[in-house]
Amino acid sequence: MIEADALSRLTIVEEEPASSNASFAADVRRGLSAIPKFLPARHLYDAVGSALYEAIMLLPEYYLTRLECEILERYAGAMLRAVGDVEIVELGPGDGRKSRIVLEAALDRMPVVRYHPIDISRSSLHALSERLVAEHDRLIVTAHLGDYVHVLQRRFLRGTGPVLVMFLGSSIGNYEPTEAHLLLRTIADALAPGDALLLGVDLKKSREQLELAYDDPGGVTAAFNRNILTRINRELGGTFDVRAFRFCASYDEQRACVDSFQVSLRTQQVRIEALDLEVEFAEGERILTESSYKYDRAGIAAMANGSGFALRRAWSDPAGRYSVNLLERER
Ligand code: AVI
Repeated sequence: MIEADALSRLTIVEEEPASSNASFAADVRRGLSAIPKFLPARHLYDAVGSALYEAIMLLPEYYLTRLECEILERYAGAMLRAVGDVEIVELGPGDGRKSRIVLEAALDRMPVVRYHPIDISRSSLHALSERLVAEHDRLIVTAHLGDYVHVLQRRFLRGTGPVLVMFLGSSIGNYEPTEAHLLLRTIADALAPGDALLLGVDLKKSREQLELAYDDPGGVTAAFNRNILTRINRELGGTFDVRAFRFCASYDEQRACVDSFQVSLRTQQVRIEALDLEVEFAEGERILTESSYKYDRAGIAAMANGSGFALRRAWSDPAGRYSVNLLERER
């Protein structure tokens, strides 16, 4: 039971999220009718997919989360010194394990910290926000339920004073480079000159390390990825036989991108009842389910420059595998 004092420091703003079921159905129709076939990666995160992603973040092979937490533990104080006293906005905080590290460093510096998490998942946004106000009595949380792009486009940050936006977990890597530019531009447009963005970015490395991180031997990532097919069966009356597909993650060095696929093991036809759609698969035909782009410092600086930001500082682990970057909204 959450105490009245904690509740008085929590506001949850419903930002009218788009009906996720309608957009899931439309995206499945579009993606499975396209050549080559694809499914947008955001649909991997239903309740089952989100739980599997939580498990991925604990895998030794999936170094991203562990390294990002280590970097934040070590440098959050320096990051906050670099930006001064700010309100903190976070895009897609998930379970908040990284948020907590930065918020605690902020509470060490400021008498009161204002935090605005934005998340599409009602249950995780409520759970995180309630836990945070209960644990920290100098924290004021205004949580926004909705798609972070829509929320940012409403310019809710205007007039609040200096802001630090956090976009962690290398989620920027799941956007095609042109879309990543557009997203950073949307963030820049929501900010005032001098505001900052803390951007977690996975760095380029060897094929072996990347393919192991995205196809762990225990099969957790394969299960996470396969869930998109079972989700179609569950929610849209699909007839996918998941045993007739295999998971594959491969690194494309030219694009510096790990692509994840479901590969059809035979010629087959799948019906999706809710869409009145029959989908034909040839043997070996693939559905692209996710792309995870990797960057280097020059690529991060170029992405920042093209979107209204300047790369001010970057922190990484000693082996240079992962980076947390501080971008400043240009004047
Ligand atoms: C959420 N996103 C940054 C993860 C990634 O690394 O692309 C999702 C993921 N897919 C497989 N493992 C993790």
